[in-house]
Amino acid sequence: MQMTTKTGSPEKLRVGTVVVGAFADGTLPDAAKAVDKASNRRLSAVLKRGDLDAKAGSCVLLHDVPGVAAQRVLLVSLGARDAFGDRAFRDALGGAAKALAGGPAKDAAVTLADVEVPDRSLAWRLQQASRLLADGAYRFDAPRAERPLVRGAGAITLLIAGKVDAEHADAVRRGLATAEGMALAKDLGNLGGNVCTPSHLANVARALGKEFKFKVEVLERAEMEKLGMGSALSVGRASYEPCKFIVMHYRGRETKDKPIVLVGKGLTFDTGGISLKPGDDLDMMKYDMAGAASVLGTMKMVAQLELPLNVVGIVAAVENMPGGNASRPGDVVTSMSGQTIEILNTDAEGRLVLCDALTYAERFEPECVVDIATLTGACVIALGIQTSGLFANDDALAAELLESGADAGDRAWQLPLWDEYQSQLKSNFADMSNLGGRPAGAITAACFLARFTKAYKWAHLDIAGTASVSGDAKGATGRPVPLLSEFLLGRADDVAD
Ligand code: BES
Ligand code: MN
Ligand code: ZN
Repeated sequence: MQMTTKTGSPEKLRVGTVVVGAFADGTLPDAAKAVDKASNRRLSAVLKRGDLDAKAGSCVLLHDVPGVAAQRVLLVSLGARDAFGDRAFRDALGGAAKALAGGPAKDAAVTLADVEVPDRSLAWRLQQASRLLADGAYRFDAPRAERPLVRGAGAITLLIAGKVDAEHADAVRRGLATAEGMALAKDLGNLGGNVCTPSHLANVARALGKEFKFKVEVLERAEMEKLGMGSALSVGRASYEPCKFIVMHYRGRETKDKPIVLVGKGLTFDTGGISLKPGDDLDMMKYDMAGAASVLGTMKMVAQLELPLNVVGIVAAVENMPGGNASRPGDVVTSMSGQTIEILNTDAEGRLVLCDALTYAERFEPECVVDIATLTGACVIALGIQTSGLFANDDALAAELLESGADAGDRAWQLPLWDEYQSQLKSNFADMSNLGGRPAGAITAACFLARFTKAYKWAHLDIAGTASVSGDAKGATGRPVPLLSEFLLGRADDVAD
């Protein structure tokens, strides 16, 4: 996607489609007013007839509007004027993105970023707009014998009335890089587990390192054994696919600057193991590497923008299969931390993999660690598919991540990590069990991880509900790359100040 920002009059731009907004009560933002005026009030006439649905993001495409240089005018609803805010702004851009991605125009000019949003700057609007438009154009390149015809606008101009300065151009770059990170995360998620194996994730990490010149290490099973990662290795035991422990080192600062460490759960397929999952929707378990994919996507964003940060990305890539040598319920394993774990359910494997990755993270003396994992079905029950679960042992870090999610339209909600819940992990045969029972399943999973993160500031994002959608629109969402990107962009700004 090619995206530029320009100052100009929307009625004069010679493009395939010019996009303007309209509020439900018929009032028009300045850019739409200009088009309305040039076209002898054609927009007003269409709105008066009630052709545009009031819901933010609804669209009407007008052809050959007199007085307008563009071939088409896409009229996008901004919803109720008094309710206009982040959400309606995003919905409007999402609607426009969808229409442009499926439409005939090869290029477009979008004026929606110039519509004022309460408490939001023009830079914020431009960053969100570029991300939403680029992300809306995402298509998974499915391996089909017959390739579908590619439509959609490949070049978009974000049109604003005022001058374009360096901050605005940077905001657009940030939005685009975030969308590219999301696209990588979606691509990896959407691939089948037979293609997106732990080795594939390792290869993608190596390729990123090569492209952007950062160091990538891939630890093989023997090295993981030497490190004592008995817990992580127990999960991958019965798979023909070898486990890969992937460590990416991005350095945008002096070596001595403490890194931010991202840790992703990379279960390239989760059958449940011997505690086999039921068959319904089991294909969705190819998305159990979405945390890992978000780490890879975010590393790409960071490297592309050359952010002045040190970031370590860790991906623990494993496949959870049943088999003659699989872990059994009742097995006791020793984690890298030395703590022992009784495996009561082989389907609670994410925490078994993450705990060793979190112990490994200690060696970087991190500024903070954020892990991202499709960890529990219980989190989906608690928060649905709209909101990621957030847990943290540090209030400031939690607040920062929550705000990043709100700014990016990729929200999380904090759940408690209180000691009261720890007793649910008691085991008669080891330091802890990997199963907390049905009550508060997302919390007890986080409590399990908390036992391995005492050495640093840590947050955990449970993205089981938010990383993918099922049904007709089945696919990866690219979340929480927007949240993580916003978090790191904020940290990069702090460094620059
Ligand atoms: N990968 C699943 C969690 C999951 C569920 C992700 C639904 C996406 C959608 C995880 O490994 C798992 O199986 N968790 C179990 C834990 C339980 C056995 C304690 C669960 O949530 O049922
Ligand atoms: Mn599982
Ligand atoms: Zn899992």
